[in-house]
Amino acid sequence: MKRQKRFEKLEKRPVHLDGFVKRWDDEGLVAMMGKNDPKPSIKIENGVVTELDGKTQDEFDLIDQYIAKYGINLENAEKVMNMDSLKLANMLCDPNVPRSEIVQLTTAMTPAKAEEVISKLNFAEMIMATQKMRPRRTPATQCHITNTLDNPVELAADAAEAARRGFPEQETTTAVARYAPMNAISIMVGSQTGRPGVITQCSVEEADELSLGMRGFTAYAETISVYGTDRVFTDGDDTPWSKGFLASCYASRGLKMRFTSGAGSEVMMGYTEGKSMLYLEARCIFITKASGVQGLQNGGVSCIGIPGAVAGGIREVLGENLLCMMLDIECASGNDQAFSHSDIRRTERLLGQFIAGTDYISSGYAAEENKDNTFAGSNMDVLDYDDYVTMERDLAVNGGIYPIEEDEAIMIRNKAAKAIQAVFESLGLPPITDEEVEAATYASNSDDMPKRDMVQDMKAAQDLMARGITVVDIIKALDEHGFDDVADAVTHLAQQKVCGDYLQTSAIFDGNWNCISAINDTNDYKGPGTGYRVWEDEETWNKIQDVPWALDPKKTDF
Ligand code: 5AD
Ligand code: CA
Repeated sequence: MKRQKRFEKLEKRPVHLDGFVKRWDDEGLVAMMGKNDPKPSIKIENGVVTELDGKTQDEFDLIDQYIAKYGINLENAEKVMNMDSLKLANMLCDPNVPRSEIVQLTTAMTPAKAEEVISKLNFAEMIMATQKMRPRRTPATQCHITNTLDNPVELAADAAEAARRGFPEQETTTAVARYAPMNAISIMVGSQTGRPGVITQCSVEEADELSLGMRGFTAYAETISVYGTDRVFTDGDDTPWSKGFLASCYASRGLKMRFTSGAGSEVMMGYTEGKSMLYLEARCIFITKASGVQGLQNGGVSCIGIPGAVAGGIREVLGENLLCMMLDIECASGNDQAFSHSDIRRTERLLGQFIAGTDYISSGYAAEENKDNTFAGSNMDVLDYDDYVTMERDLAVNGGIYPIEEDEAIMIRNKAAKAIQAVFESLGLPPITDEEVEAATYASNSDDMPKRDMVQDMKAAQDLMARGITVVDIIKALDEHGFDDVADAVTHLAQQKVCGDYLQTSAIFDGNWNCISAINDTNDYKGPGTGYRVWEDEETWNKIQDVPWALDPKKTDF
């Protein structure tokens, strides 16, 4: 065929590198209201759910059993199930219906009812509803701190810079699993140097991750996965009960925790039972509620390519975030793994959560260059910082990231690199040279770092666990080397696990160890003039509007 020149050019645009698929209900490749999704129903006899979404008790699978037993506020269930879904959808975006009132209803729905309610909202209405339904009044965001060499000095420096830029939660993972303890320590020390009160996690195999937390190397955990069909659960040797038990293990040791789910996981694992993404995700959200877990990381997350490929998929993703908030659960709302080669689509993906504001707009912004992101690359990375901040400034929105001056970044990266150097020395870990400290101070990615002996580092990381090193040894090390303020910050962090305030829904710390959560910073949005407005948060707004790259009439010689 003779090619039409415009079509030839269009085909070369980045969007054509993305994957797209037409609707296929029986394989779960449908965003919501698939042809096999059940009709909403509930029957309660003597306080026991005997029918759920078209299935009788004897037909319940494990997930149905779990949700029926623990997940639904039965007091209002019959009333809500008899309400018109369109009316409920209307109430969600009507600013005159307060969050506190509607939560009594939304926590009493079944998964299929929740899906039906969400399906009535268009994208703009979802934004309105999200603005009202997120639990914490003040929005925030979360980041990844990783590099492909698991270089500890660079991890510490990146964590410190990210802390200064505003991320109250930071997570690492490893390129090589055996590095886990060293990575966890590096970002904890780095982030506390940058800004006391940041909480950190290290996403690794579940037993190791729990052990890191109990030693005080991490303060939260989030990658505890739940799924929407039994087959996917059991494929990972899990059930809703085993995940619920793991959640309690973390919480009982004073570690903040949330689950992870998101559209597309069941498609990727090949067991959708022919159900739509939103229906299966609704089940995950109800499992989270049933487990008594305070929060959920959802919104496709690592499976975002799947909802991203179907019609209405990105609308579904905002819908699943909204449903999480409707169950009164903290939401870390995706904008995590990269899914598109198109800069336009990357922005599109972010917009809903960014404009509405969520507890964590991104559940993993790459606070390193994406080439160093061992979570497989994020929708946005460090090289997008200035665009992101400009978007916040243009729209007068708090997206949770602030601009910083270059000299501040240099200063704090250097201090964090020196702090981790000191910790390595005291703990008898392979030494960090002054040359490495200098390189980490000025580095942008791991190519800028001198190479370490990785075999030796890995052995040392394992040995550190065998020696029974805990957070107390890290505090001592910092103190011995004159990093009193960092030692103090790490001590405070350990103390917080004893007092446990930050186990409350949507909790983060400000720079003075004040715990800010849905309890004391309740989202009170009731329409124009209420809720969080960045220009009323003077300190934050000043940081955002005074970007270093704007001309200043007071300073510039015109
Ligand atoms: N469903 C369940 N778990 C997920 N994770 C990421 N995306 C999903 C999803 N859609 C969890 C996995 C992964 C980690 C980064 O987060 O545990 O390893
Ligand atoms: Ca995350």
